[in-house]
Amino acid sequence: MAKLTVLPENTSYPLSASVSLLNTLLKNAHPIQHKCGGKAQCGTCRIRIIEGAGKLSPLSEIERRRLGEENLSAGLRLACQTYAFADVSIEIPKT
Ligand code: FES
Repeated sequence: MAKLTVLPENTSYPLSASVSLLNTLLKNAHPIQHKCGGKAQCGTCRIRIIEGAGKLSPLSEIERRRLGEENLSAGLRLACQTYAFADVSIEIPKT
């Protein structure tokens, strides 16, 4: 089974391609902000992709607009809009 690894803690959780990375984290009680409840409105669920960027669901237009080019260039995604199809490693930036 594929896994989601959170760095630098190096904590891993099993993931499913049908469950967003946000919901994977929440299901495992891993702290992450999510003020809008996963509707791509708040931008607080930002994560940085460390490994596995090519194994993620494509960027949606709403995610692209919410993050902006600067954040996208820095490897950020919205955890509520991102699904992974194989192992992926992330960091949760401090806000
Ligand atoms: S939870 Fe608000 S943008 Fe993801």
